[in-house]
Amino acid sequence: MGINKKKILVTGGTGYIGSHTVVELQNAGFEVVIVDNLSNSNADVVDRITKITGQKPSFYKEDCLNKVGIEKIFANEGKIDGIIHFAAKKAVNESVQQPLLYYRNNILSLVYLLETMQQFGVQNIVFSSSCTVYGQPDKLPVTETAPIKTATSPYGNTKQMCEEIIHDAAVADANLNGILLRYFNPIGAHPSALIGELPNGVPMNLVPFITQTAAGIRPELKVFGDDYSTPDGSCIRDYINVVDLAKAHVVALNRMIEKKNKQQVECFNIGTGRGLSVLELIKTFQEVNELTLPYKIVGRREGDIEQIWADPTYANEELGWKAVESIEDTLRSAWKWQKQLENN
Ligand code: NAD
Ligand code: WQD
Repeated sequence: MGINKKKILVTGGTGYIGSHTVVELQNAGFEVVIVDNLSNSNADVVDRITKITGQKPSFYKEDCLNKVGIEKIFANEGKIDGIIHFAAKKAVNESVQQPLLYYRNNILSLVYLLETMQQFGVQNIVFSSSCTVYGQPDKLPVTETAPIKTATSPYGNTKQMCEEIIHDAAVADANLNGILLRYFNPIGAHPSALIGELPNGVPMNLVPFITQTAAGIRPELKVFGDDYSTPDGSCIRDYINVVDLAKAHVVALNRMIEKKNKQQVECFNIGTGRGLSVLELIKTFQEVNELTLPYKIVGRREGDIEQIWADPTYANEELGWKAVESIEDTLRSAWKWQKQLENN
């Protein structure tokens, strides 16, 4: 097993984006080791990944906050060619209520991981950042050179701080390479519907709320505001298919492994370049899935950005990565995933 295969350790690998990325890594010929504490995912995801790819990833149920446990995994696994660090808590509201939990989990996990990488001579890390670092950009579409705005939540702040930590660690260690991927709004599921997003409790994000409403789990969707300065008055986002997003991690890792990165730490927008309003997304979801979604317009949600979408040119040209999935297929995949959830 794994002869000549490059080995990638994926923290948070049973989570939503992590699981899709593990599939794409295996498809691209990597051997994958997952580390996850299962705080927001299930162990059966490992079997589901295996069903899709025919290859079983190694899995350790471990907390990234347990430095000794992480060291044991590195020691046990031998040469590791790269890390993808997904493990983090991500609920914006919860982070306002419990900021220390977020700082501890998201910041310490990264610090321990970077220390362990140095101890074991692991040189390459891909980090899950977010378009939230841009706040409401002054210019749209937003490029990577746009200023970082003051974070509006502790969660958002952990992303900014983690980016800075990786920059500083690289200044002090010439062997360390990092790629920061700033995700826009990931949606959808694997076309097999074997893996997808598993929201905890009442979904805060738009698409899981839509699919649960369509499934009758929620009585109606509330559209947060139709009085924004946008063509139809609802907010605009850049919704990126999760499989497209997963593939960006594979190219980012290859870039560092093949030493094609131009700087020790690089940063890329991972979006489609297309802004879609909440009302447009609802309309498309209804059309492609041939159903009617009960929804009503309510007041604005506090803290929402009015509009943001990516300029992905830098990722397109430098990484050779581009989002290819249509919004129609992506919203079909989201609904297919929701429907199979009810049968499980
Ligand atoms: P997710 O919750 O589905 O996955 C995160 C995984 O990390 C979960 O399986 C969880 O059990 C695990 N985890 C959390 N803390 C851990 C710890 N201390 N030790 C070990 N495992 C731990 O979330 P996701 O949507 O897949 O997000 C993955 C990453 O992408 C996160 O860093 C998130 O902040 C970032 N991100 C997500 C979005 C989004 O909209 N989903 C947008 C931008 C950035
Ligand atoms: C999208 C649009 C809502 C739910 C959040 C985090 C951000 C990032 C991604 C990680 C907005 C509207 C939503 C609903 C609605 N995560 N909406 N009714 O706000 O772009 O970003 O997730 O880094 O940090 O803040 O995503 O899916 O919550 O909302 O009208 O029931 O849908 O107002 O315009 P958002 P979202």
